[in-house]
Amino acid sequence: MKSINVFKKSNEKIAMLTAYDYSTAQTLEEAGIDAILVGDSLAMVALGHENTYNITLEEMLIFVRAVSKGAKKTFIVGDMPFMSYNLSVEQGLKNASEMIKAGANAVKLEGCSEHILELTRRCVECGIPVLAHLGLTPQLLNTIGGYKIQAKTAETTELILESAKKLQEAGAFAVVLELLTAESAEYITNKLDIPTIGIGAGAGCDGQIVVTDDIMGKFTDFAPKFVKRFANIHDTVLESVRRYSKEVKDGEFPSKRESFELGEGEKEKLYVNK
Ligand code: KIV
Repeated sequence: MKSINVFKKSNEKIAMLTAYDYSTAQTLEEAGIDAILVGDSLAMVALGHENTYNITLEEMLIFVRAVSKGAKKTFIVGDMPFMSYNLSVEQGLKNASEMIKAGANAVKLEGCSEHILELTRRCVECGIPVLAHLGLTPQLLNTIGGYKIQAKTAETTELILESAKKLQEAGAFAVVLELLTAESAEYITNKLDIPTIGIGAGAGCDGQIVVTDDIMGKFTDFAPKFVKRFANIHDTVLESVRRYSKEVKDGEFPSKRESFELGEGEKEKLYVNK
């Protein structure tokens, strides 16, 4: 059932995946996934952009609406896109409310500046649950200097822990830890009351999230080391499209089975006006 309680710390790991469309959301729900993120990764995976900067709130809302129709019982987090929450707390609050109106049950905010802490507090006060996101934060890629492991030393690990604690205090219900060494992520996890959801952060987190299209082998432009392939949708679709194309060219598809034919005595009626 749709509930934020899936994010309570317990011995059972939280399994979370991304979805951007109605039918994928239906399948994830049928499989019993704990929660769904409509991630801004869709800018790259579904819209073909080079990074996550070029997706607007309006575009995100289209996908959130689709996912919320497909997964009516699953907790859905809407990812706030680049600059849709950075200008002011009022802007962030208003846009977070649009996510909720579109069908999300919570929003995800990247980083831990004073502004993000204040926005987290205000969202929570207004009944908008916040999933925090630390470590590699793709919307801050230009300031953190690219896709690299974020916690390799005791100092950087402590900095991330400090941020996570502030976000916890501000009211975030969980925190995504992206691209951290397994040791750092586990250390941070053990020091927090809220659950950590890892992506490229080892097995010591309270839960895991990955991009569905990555683990299903659907998005194949590149695959980070932390991606395990559970299926090969790309090859299945490729092979099926080739077979379809061949059958059309050979006149095998559509066959009688996929065609509608007139019954006894109906043929004459078809040309009655000629
Ligand atoms: O946009 C996204 O999909 C994410 C991840 C944490 C998977 O932020």
